[in-house]
Amino acid sequence: MTSYRNIVVLTGAGISAESGLKTFRDADGLWENHRIEEVATPEAFVRNPELVQRFYNARRQQLSEVSPNSAHIALAEFEQTFNGRFLLVTQNVDDLHERAGSQNLLHMHGELKKVRCLLCNSVHRYATDIEASTECPACGRTALRPHIVWFGEMPFYMDEIYQALEQCDLFISIGTSGHVYPAAGFVEVARQCGAHTVEINLEPSQTEDLFAERRYGAATTEVARFLNSLPGQ
Ligand code: APR
Repeated sequence: MTSYRNIVVLTGAGISAESGLKTFRDADGLWENHRIEEVATPEAFVRNPELVQRFYNARRQQLSEVSPNSAHIALAEFEQTFNGRFLLVTQNVDDLHERAGSQNLLHMHGELKKVRCLLCNSVHRYATDIEASTECPACGRTALRPHIVWFGEMPFYMDEIYQALEQCDLFISIGTSGHVYPAAGFVEVARQCGAHTVEINLEPSQTEDLFAERRYGAATTEVARFLNSLPGQ
């Protein structure tokens, strides 16, 4: 059996579903209550900043009601003992990976617990509600937005992520439907560069055909099962 030296993991909303956070595109998905273009675009923020801030304030508050599940924890524990390079890229804006103990982690779609100033561009950790009157900790002006990548905006850390994908020998995608690019295209990059590719999801994703290995079931059982099956574990 191959021993992997360089692993990239991509996670999506499915890994946090069993912690109690709704996924985006499942039947009871988040966007059914709030139409996507009403809350997750730069245009929506210009049109109705109060609605957008309320929406993200509620999601930020919800983080204190949920905890990492065994899939988040399995990834963090694996990283601690893995004797090679390990990068976790998440599309999730929740903080469950870091609370589980993950270290080398990139939030490509931003973080609920960060804000950015539209005027001075500084980014700050922020755990409570953003109001119209909330001042930027750096410049004191009142133009804070959630540090979230909205539709039509460029995800964060792309150079770093592509470099890691080109070098990895194992790529694992967990709990993502494969609808949203560029993340949905990561499997193709890893595959072209010779990595073994694995999909772990409740059901086949949009890009299932691109994966060499597929494991379908709940993240809380399948993630640990897969990681434990790797050589040397
Ligand atoms: N275990 C594993 N997979 C699960 C579970 C579970 N318990 N529950 C749901 N899933 C799967 C679903 O079957 C679905 O394929 O997780 C996937 C979630 O897909 P989406 O809701 O589309 O979420 P995601 O792929 O993360 O969305 C990508 O879209 O709206 C934007 O920026 C937002 O980051 C988000 C991006």
